[in-house]
Amino acid sequence: TDAPLVLGIETSCDETGIGLVRGHTLLADEIASSVEEHARFGGVVPEVASRAHLEAMTPTIARALDRAGASLADVDAIAVTAGPGLAGALLVGVAAAKAYALALDKPLYGVNHLSAHVAVDQLEHGALPKPCVALLVSGGHSSLLLVRDLAQAVVPLGATVDDAAGEAYDKVARLLGMPFPGGPPIDRAAREGDPAAIRFPRGKYDDGTLDFSFAGLKTAVARWVEDRRRAGEPVPVADVAASFQEAVVDVLTKKAIAACREHGADHLLIGGGVAANSRLRALAEERCRAAGIHLRVPRPKLCTDNGAMVAALGAELVSANALPSRLDLPADSSLPV
Ligand code: KG4
Ligand code: ZN
Repeated sequence: TDAPLVLGIETSCDETGIGLVRGHTLLADEIASSVEEHARFGGVVPEVASRAHLEAMTPTIARALDRAGASLADVDAIAVTAGPGLAGALLVGVAAAKAYALALDKPLYGVNHLSAHVAVDQLEHGALPKPCVALLVSGGHSSLLLVRDLAQAVVPLGATVDDAAGEAYDKVARLLGMPFPGGPPIDRAAREGDPAAIRFPRGKYDDGTLDFSFAGLKTAVARWVEDRRRAGEPVPVADVAASFQEAVVDVLTKKAIAACREHGADHLLIGGGVAANSRLRALAEERCRAAGIHLRVPRPKLCTDNGAMVAALGAELVSANALPSRLDLPADSSLPV
């Protein structure tokens, strides 16, 4: 196609993601992850992540260009995550994007990480119907957004008031002696357990807002497990995992559907690392079907942080004739949508 070739750079957390996109066509999506360097700390260490981005940047861009059969000279625009995320990690991506924009004399687009998680779905399922509600759940964020226009109007409807959903998975996994990141091992263990075995609290379930809270759930799980251990009784790991997971996905899907109803959206998009969760996908499908809402979930590789999502939003901005960012674009760790 003749749509401009957009290079996307993502460095908000621990993945150096480089994407190449034309319109809604994905040409390359290369990732260098420092997740193994963080595993022994049980969470992402910002300084370690920044250094890893710096080392991975040039080779990952080279790999992406190679995969797309393109060269730097073919790139028409550069998009980069300007926030939210880890300040030092964001800075590495923003500095690199500015250098490429300046050297190639191409426009630079600083984009919002959350909007990019939404935009990526267009690479898999085509243009997003408007309006659409997006549920973004990862280790760093848990948000509901109303998407009227990706290039301009993404409205925050609600967010977690404490821990992110993925963070709760990671902390509960640690408690149960499972490795980091904790989402996949809990997802697996939960398949062998009874989700109704333990009734864990559902924070903010009936408070009428579109906000989330997972800190109380995490504490309740910790207390339950400690009581068992103190009594010298075995901890039924699969039942704890399944019951914890049920509490998380129950409230996520309930509030996502409430958001669709309140805002007249008949499409729900789920993104972020937790969107890979098998129970979240199953329950969202079931409840969306009952509510007459169309569900869109990108494949797992596009749900977790990646460069393709940044390039996808960049392509959207280019096609909307949006004004490029200035070369003094700041990295903003708490950038709002
Ligand atoms: O989007 P992501 O790759 O990075 C950010 O945090 O921005 O999300 C990572 C999070 C981690 O907390 C991880 O435990 C969680 O997504 N996760 C899952 C699953 N796979 C990854 N949580 C639940 N179930 C999964 N299958
Ligand atoms: Zn993310």
